[in-house]
Amino acid sequence: MIEPEEFLNFLKSRRSIRAFQDKSVPENEIEMILEAGRWTPSASNRQPWRFIVIRNKDILNKIARVTGYGWFIAEASLAIAIVGKIKTSPKWYIIDTSLVSMNMMLMAWSLGIGTCWIGSINKEKARKILELGNNDYLLTVLPFGYIRGGIPEPTYRNPLNKIVKEI
Ligand SMILES: Cc1cc2nc3c(=O)[nH]c(=O)nc-3n(C[C@H](O)[C@H](O)[C@H](O)COP(=O)(O)O)c2cc1C
Repeated sequence: MIEPEEFLNFLKSRRSIRAFQDKSVPENEIEMILEAGRWTPSASNRQPWRFIVIRNKDILNKIARVTGYGWFIAEASLAIAIVGKIKTSPKWYIIDTSLVSMNMMLMAWSLGIGTCWIGSINKEKARKILELGNNDYLLTVLPFGYIRGGIPEPTYRNPLNKIVKEI
């Protein structure tokens, strides 16, 4: 087991990364990120997800163009589209796939690979580019790559005394 304080510091050290080096991520590290996704908990263990690995630069560019604040996908070495299978778990597919995204982001960070959750994306257009079907819910497309230009400063978090109440 990982030492708790070390783990908390690791969680605190993660940043959203929006600039990537032109350097590819090795196969075994991509596999570890996918494995972290595969081992995500899900309601009734239904695992309502599929992952699409995008390394093709044309597709990365096309996806980048249908984002708002997500153009940096075009710089990434790869991206992974996290797709929920709606019928497999109609009540939970969004929550389950959201957890997948966190597992993948943390795995990547432990490898020194940056990523950023992209909500600012035209999902209808992205769905077409990815050729998704009716049963497919596109959660997000996470870019992955080595960090260019240094690790950003920490972003603000509300203090515990503002967000925690004891009853
Ligand atoms: C649901 C969600 C949607 C987000 N959408 C975007 C986005 O479209 N573009 C972007 O650059 N960052 C996006 N982010 C990243 C947040 O801006 C970032 O996590 C937040 O500012 C805290 O910074 P940190 O991740 O470095 O701690 C998103 C994050 C989440 C969780």
